[in-house]
Amino acid sequence: MNLLFAATELSPYAKTGGLADVLAALPAALRRRGHSVACVLPLFRSIRETLPELRPTDLVLSAPLGLSLQSARIWEGRTDRDIRVFLVEKEEFFDRTYLYGPPGTDYADNASRFFFFSKIIPLLAQHVQPTPEILHLHDWHTGLVPVFVRAGRLPFRTLFTIHNLAYQGNFWGLDFPLTNLPASYFSPAGIEFHQHINCLKAAIVFSDRLTTVSPRYAREIQTPEFGCGLAEVLHERKYKLSGILNGADYTRWDPRSDPRLATRYSAGNPDAKHLSKDLVAKQVGWEPSDAPLFCLISRLTAQKGIPLLIEIIDEFRQEDSRLIVLGEGDPSLQESLLGLARAFSQSIAVRIGFDEAFAHLLLAGADFLLTPSLFEPCGLTHLYALRYGTLPIARETGGLADTITSWNPVAGQGTGFLFQAPVASAFAEAVRRAKEVYRDPPSLREMRQEAMRQEFSWERSAAAYEEIYQRLIGSAARD
Ligand code: ADP
Ligand code: GLC
Repeated sequence: MNLLFAATELSPYAKTGGLADVLAALPAALRRRGHSVACVLPLFRSIRETLPELRPTDLVLSAPLGLSLQSARIWEGRTDRDIRVFLVEKEEFFDRTYLYGPPGTDYADNASRFFFFSKIIPLLAQHVQPTPEILHLHDWHTGLVPVFVRAGRLPFRTLFTIHNLAYQGNFWGLDFPLTNLPASYFSPAGIEFHQHINCLKAAIVFSDRLTTVSPRYAREIQTPEFGCGLAEVLHERKYKLSGILNGADYTRWDPRSDPRLATRYSAGNPDAKHLSKDLVAKQVGWEPSDAPLFCLISRLTAQKGIPLLIEIIDEFRQEDSRLIVLGEGDPSLQESLLGLARAFSQSIAVRIGFDEAFAHLLLAGADFLLTPSLFEPCGLTHLYALRYGTLPIARETGGLADTITSWNPVAGQGTGFLFQAPVASAFAEAVRRAKEVYRDPPSLREMRQEAMRQEFSWERSAAAYEEIYQRLIGSAARD
């Protein structure tokens, strides 16, 4: 099959979260299965600076954006996995420090930036050789593509993957002329939602198929608690919605081969983790210690349950435990965390920023990973943590619930510690269960080994996507 992926992130060239990891790994897994896969992204500054073999092509594409006609040159490059990438060059939109805006904010012209990107995608698809049968679109930035495909009666099938329902691409109605769509599209049956343009709703209504990144999240988003206002819209379309669990890219995230670790280790000798633990302590200015080390590696947003972490901070102030946070995001959450690190510098360290190398080292050195997310479409960090023998303490939701089994002391089995209610007491209780296991080395060793044996391969996810592509192509042939 011939597939074109469209998105705004791709590891390691443009990344704010897990979407980037998916775009790096899934096309490569599909290619290993014999398909022809290319990706299209905006030519962001970070991509311009880092993508291998980047060069301009002769192709210049133009699309109306409101009253003006805008053009973009297409560039081409290749990822380190040898996947072909097309880039949409539009300096005034994409040659900026951040992808979407400084952490916690949005650029004021995001409607123009991503409507334009979404217009160029189907135009480009008509030039790509071999011609793609499927456009596989990711998150709201590409949400209008299925609308343009439908409105233009273009010969592509669209699969839209929801990585996070909380980000919908909501813009006021006055931006509608920027779509250049007939006025009838700005209606409840179209892309309008509460008098706004809603790019995610557009994708839900107009794409041929919808997926989310875990089966549990596909069910959750049809309920008011997780639906972010779109539960009903999704429920009405559940016939085309399903969940496919993400994989973990073990070529990048495996302590047996991770070049960023001073000492590699495996399920057979997880004790070598200790060396990374000492190194991590040193990096944040602490003496080595046998105290349990908890970590959180995350975007700092309400989604990730950071306020819950702040509420239970006493758990990490005691002599018997330590906490290291690596993240960036909401400025007020950053400030609160930094304040705690200043006040309790012997047991709490906070690093603000996006630091891939430290993320690897921290996953290897920590004993436990905290993921108290209020919702989690899939979550990749905990999948990596499992492979590093770093046991997740997680809210039982979305992909976390689908992939972590809670420690059962009677059976002596489990890969992490789950809690249900999104409240501080439940989270604190899970942390205490983890501390108990830490004090019992045979149980700790058993859990670590079980965690490290878990296998969430991209091959399995790719096979599931392949089935969907096949059905879409089959239905196109029947039309
Ligand atoms: P989300 O996509 O919701 O942010 P995921 O768990 O799916 O959550 O993916 C997060 C990805 O981003 C992981 O690869 C994680 O290691 C990485 N990450 C998050 N914050 C940071 C940070 N501050 N520094 C380095 N890597 C980070
Ligand atoms: C989103 C979700 C996260 C998921 C990632 C990749 O950012 O928040 O749970 O793992 O996308 O699909």
